[in-house]
This record gives sequence, structure tokens and C-alpha cells, in this order.
Amino acid sequence: MPDIACVNGEFCDVANARVSIEDRGFQFADGVYEVIVAPGGVPFLLEAHLERLASSLAGIELRVDLAELRVAELVKTGIERCGYRDVMVYIQITRGVASRNHAMPERVTPTVVMTFKAKPVYDAALRKDGVALKTVRDNRWARCNIKSIALLANILLKQEARAAGFFDALIVSDDDIVRETAAANVFIVRDGVLRTPPKSTHILYGITRDHLLAQARKLDIPCDESDFDRAMLLSADEVFITSSTMEVMPVTRVDENAIGDGKVGAMTRRLFGCFN
Ligand code: PDD
Repeated sequence: MPDIACVNGEFCDVANARVSIEDRGFQFADGVYEVIVAPGGVPFLLEAHLERLASSLAGIELRVDLAELRVAELVKTGIERCGYRDVMVYIQITRGVASRNHAMPERVTPTVVMTFKAKPVYDAALRKDGVALKTVRDNRWARCNIKSIALLANILLKQEARAAGFFDALIVSDDDIVRETAAANVFIVRDGVLRTPPKSTHILYGITRDHLLAQARKLDIPCDESDFDRAMLLSADEVFITSSTMEVMPVTRVDENAIGDGKVGAMTRRLFGCFN
């Protein structure tokens, strides 16, 4: 089954999808994106993703109306057409095609690209045993709350972690404050309290993060959204990371340090259930 794409409202196989080399997304990474999963063909938290997309667009002064572009409708059509049971939808909106010039073009039509692929399946052993993170310094731009397609810093940090045999990079500030990973939000559990860094320009406001916090509060789990440092994370009972594609992924080692007893914790396992 070929993966399918939608380019400015037209569906085709991914292999045949084309955009101009003068697209500002290609030349400047002048665009934003979303990743949405649709288990059983039902988009999960679609409204929240579209709201975040709208706020990313506003953040880069790209004035488009998602309703006018029929984004929600095209997402649903693509999910139906692709034929996968569990789907991963990628949406990218760039400022469009214009002769290369840093200044924003006056009149330009945004490029709206989507792909519809099978939702990635993570090796069950990762969930069972947990993953390891490598601590790295935050050298990304200062507006991480915008889901920008300019991901070079994240890519290099992730690669640094991968090359050293780790699953992902734990990004910390110069003074060791925990931010997030290269592509997920971070949570710790300490003395029964679920903690995650607060919303700020240092992190992406993960849709999975928000969903998990809401579900945890419903379960009467105490939650705290305030900054903590790497030392506090290392002394946590449990650590896990969240994203749309991974949901909850346990972390059992950070650098050379085991977290807790080095096994996936009870709270983490309980929170797996928030996605069923
Ligand atoms: N990544 N932080 C960063 C830097 C991310 O790239 C992501 C998501 C998250 C989690 O956000 P959400 O829960 O809304 O998926 C946090 C996506 C999946 C990606 O780039 O592929």
C-alpha cells in the first residue's frame, strides 16, 4: 500500500508529490508542522493539534485560515483514503513559493502538504524495559513553543545521543534546568507527584503532555508544572517522555545513572492506560 500525500488539496502517492525548489520551506525552513496520530482511523485530539497549528502560524506571522484551507476535512479524507488502520498524519504549512529573499513576500500562497503513513510501531521491549537518554545542552532557538520545521538543532542533538547509543537527548539549559527531549516532553515522578516543566518558550506545548496531565488530575494524581533540574530528575522515582507517536515511553537510564530501581515504575505503567 503506497503512502499518500496531499499537496495543496490534491491527493497523490507520496512518491509523486512535488513542491517547488523555491518553496520557502525548502530554502528557509519558513514553515510550521503538526504530527497527529489516528489509531483505528480516528484522529486523536485533532482540535488541539489544529489550535496549536494556528498558534504556530501566528507565531511566524503566516496568516492563513485553517478552516478556509479545509485542513480538518483533508486530514479526515486522507486517513480514509490511505487504508492504514492506525495512521500517522504529517501536516506542514510553509509561506509558499517566492524568489529567494529573506524578507517576507508581499503576496504569496502558502504551501500545505500532508502525508498519511502507518503509525510507527515501537519495539515492545522499549516500553517494557524503558529507554536511555543522553544529557545535552540546549542550543536551539529561543521560541521552542512554535512547532517550526527548522529542526536542525534538534536533529543534531538527537544524533549526538543516538551516536552514543542512547534513544534520545535530554535537553537541559546552561544551568541544568530540564527542558524536553529532541522530540518529546519530559515527566518525572517523585514522592507520588507527577512533575513536568512549565509551558514557556523553552518547550513545545505537547498535546500528549496536556492530555496526560488532564488524565492524571482526573485520577487524583498530584501534578506540578514547575521547573526542576537534572539532579532532581536523576533522583526521581520514575521518568518518562511523551509524544503523539510514542504516547508514554519510560526512561530507565540517563547517562550512566539508573532511574529509581532501573525498572519501569508503577505510575508510568498506570499512565499507559490514558491512551486506551
Ligand atoms: N514531536 N517536544 C518536541 C521538541 C517535539 O518535537 C514533540 C513532538 C513533542 C511532543 O508533542 P506532542 O505530544 O504534541 O506530539 C515535544 C513530533 C511527534 C515530531 O516532531 O515528530
